[in-house]
Amino acid sequence: MFEARVLEKLKKNENNFISGEKLSEDLGVSRTSVWKYINALKDAGYNIESVSKKGYRLIYSQDLLNEFEIGYNLKTNILGKHIHYMETVDSTNIYARNMAIDGALEGTVVIADAQITGRGRLGRSWSSAAKKGIWMSVVLRPGISPEEVQIITIGASVAVVKAIFTVTGIRAGIKWPNDIILEGKKLCGILTEMNSEIERVNFLILGIGINVNHNPEDFPEDIRSIATSLKIFSENNFNNNVKLFTRSDIIKELLFELENLYIKINKGDLKEIIDEWKEYSVTLGKHVKVLYRSAEYSGIAEDIKEDGRLIVNCEDGIVREIFSGEVSVRGVLGYS
Ligand code: BTN
Repeated sequence: MFEARVLEKLKKNENNFISGEKLSEDLGVSRTSVWKYINALKDAGYNIESVSKKGYRLIYSQDLLNEFEIGYNLKTNILGKHIHYMETVDSTNIYARNMAIDGALEGTVVIADAQITGRGRLGRSWSSAAKKGIWMSVVLRPGISPEEVQIITIGASVAVVKAIFTVTGIRAGIKWPNDIILEGKKLCGILTEMNSEIERVNFLILGIGINVNHNPEDFPEDIRSIATSLKIFSENNFNNNVKLFTRSDIIKELLFELENLYIKINKGDLKEIIDEWKEYSVTLGKHVKVLYRSAEYSGIAEDIKEDGRLIVNCEDGIVREIFSGEVSVRGVLGYS
């Protein structure tokens, strides 16, 4: 993709001019083509100044999301090799599912600056304010059976926590199975949707929503007390040193971590994934309340098994293995 190569040259020279002639020589294309690629980059939102006799210069553009930005310096081999960016979509999960039905390749990423009807777990909605967060879905075609899918969701939560830590230095925790929590509030949610036969998964849509640059008022009032963002956390903790986070940096690191996870799953290294999950867990050792269909249990979350089941030592003396349902953890998301 020549646009990406032009972008790379401009980024290496950020804030300095590079002549059209040099670009055309370096890339082996005509000056007219260079001009065409520059226009495509401008259309994608880059602020590029063109001055005759001097050439082109990229003026620093804050937090842009598009396929060029995510593709630039991406360290993966499979995930994110096909990126489908949209300014607005109903839900990236729905869009990715339709692409997967039409044969989208494994690792295709659908990403949007805003979602109109973002979807959450258990039929809930997901608030997806424009340009504030990461709203993305990845098409996966793993060679596993439907019962094994939980490990992907569990592992994805580890990948999110690791990527956020690498890029921002902020250490979040995981509430079973895959809510990412900061200071007892929700930072990120994961919704995995599956298309399968009884014994075989056709494809999975791994949908990830991360609240990045929200101020409290960017969340609807009813979730303001239980939702947080990286920006809110850094305002609370890093005093005067608050900046906006660059979403594409987090996305690239996340795709890298997700690819590592995927390699581990394909090799059957499930123990390593579960051990990392335990390291970041805010669930184990805590008092939990489990809602499963119409039943409700309370007890201590003692362990997690390799298939992702949570082991709860319940107050009625029975040790239960929880595979699905809703788990509230004392001290997290308003459960006291
Ligand atoms: C949850 O309820 O915790 C899961 C939230 C998942 C939200 C993400 S945002 C990107 C993707 N598209 C959706 O419609 N939902 C997921």
